[in-house]
Amino acid sequence: MAGSASPRPPEIRRLGGSTVEVSSLGAGCWAWGDEEYWRYGLDHGPREAVAAFETYLNRGIDFFDTAESYAWGKGEQILGALARKAGRKLCIATKYAPLAGRGGPAAIRKGIEGSLRRLGVPCIDLYQIHWPDRDEAPIDAAMEIFADAVEAGQVRAVGVSNFGSSEMRTAHAALARRGVPLATNQVRYSLLHRAPEVDGVLDACRELNVTLLAYSPLEQGILTGKYSGTRPPLGKRRETPWFATSNLEAARPLIEELQRIAQIRDCTPAAVALAWTLANPDVVPLAGARTGEQAEANADALELDLDEELLAALNHLSAAWRKP
Ligand SMILES: NC(=O)c1ccc[n+]([C@@H]2O[C@H](COP(=O)([O-])OP(=O)(O)OC[C@H]3O[C@@H](n4cnc5c(N)ncnc54)[C@H](OP(=O)(O)O)[C@@H]3O)[C@@H](O)[C@H]2O)c1
Repeated sequence: MAGSASPRPPEIRRLGGSTVEVSSLGAGCWAWGDEEYWRYGLDHGPREAVAAFETYLNRGIDFFDTAESYAWGKGEQILGALARKAGRKLCIATKYAPLAGRGGPAAIRKGIEGSLRRLGVPCIDLYQIHWPDRDEAPIDAAMEIFADAVEAGQVRAVGVSNFGSSEMRTAHAALARRGVPLATNQVRYSLLHRAPEVDGVLDACRELNVTLLAYSPLEQGILTGKYSGTRPPLGKRRETPWFATSNLEAARPLIEELQRIAQIRDCTPAAVALAWTLANPDVVPLAGARTGEQAEANADALELDLDEELLAALNHLSAAWRKP
């Protein structure tokens, strides 16, 4: 499927009630610059990041997600430099990390300035709080600063991340008092992690007109089918419970189905897993890619229409899966 004569461009999706419009498939940029978890500088480096970025862009994917905490600012610098070189308008999302001891709302103001500087942009398209801060800057107070940044023209749209449904409602109400919509909630969501469907987050997104940004839609590589108990990833990922042999084995029937569909449709299991996520109009997946080849394979998801029968088969195996 990759290299098809004229690839289908992505649909355009508006982020909640904001004015920001993005490609239906977004790019996750965590691996670009991150040595600690993703082994940047060992398994891949600047050349691969450029190739992944350019491939996504060539396939019409113009929505790139990073965070100030990714490689401690280096991730934003890399993305900012790539975006400047691209010479066209992209949509850049980044996140404020409410780390303990950093300080309350005043630290958010500094955080915004730091991100603007590292990205080299006058305005951040989507500014998110990376997780709820339950101590130093309660949700209401944090959202006041985010709304100030919108009024000051530093931020176009506001998002949250890793928020439960009641935390989302608090953020939504605080922003609404300032006339700012809550555009997004970025949470883990994939065929192997469907909690948002049952914990109220997806329902709250629909009710409040908030777009769900799905992170780790490939379960950090598990859904590509390339990892198993005898073929674990290198580095820190193998130490996480997700990459435990029992977990990889339990996911095997689902992965085999992804492989079966990929063979029939002449694409990769990764594209099938992403197409499942794209079938939900309320969700924009953020697919991480370390290399140009991975970005190409992921972009193939945009060409794949999974019919009801295939979606049902994937839903069935996904529902049957239980993390051991
Ligand atoms: N808000 C949050 O708390 C949070 C948390 C996590 C992620 N995120 C965001 O979500 C984005 C995506 O999540 P993620 O990076 O955790 O995981 P992911 O997108 O599920 O997986 C990305 C990894 O899978 C492998 N991969 C990707 N495409 C592939 C392909 N076509 N074929 C083979 N392998 C492929 C690559 O690693 P290998 O080749 O090394 O296997 C790649 O780095 C991140 O970049 C970040 O922007 C946000």
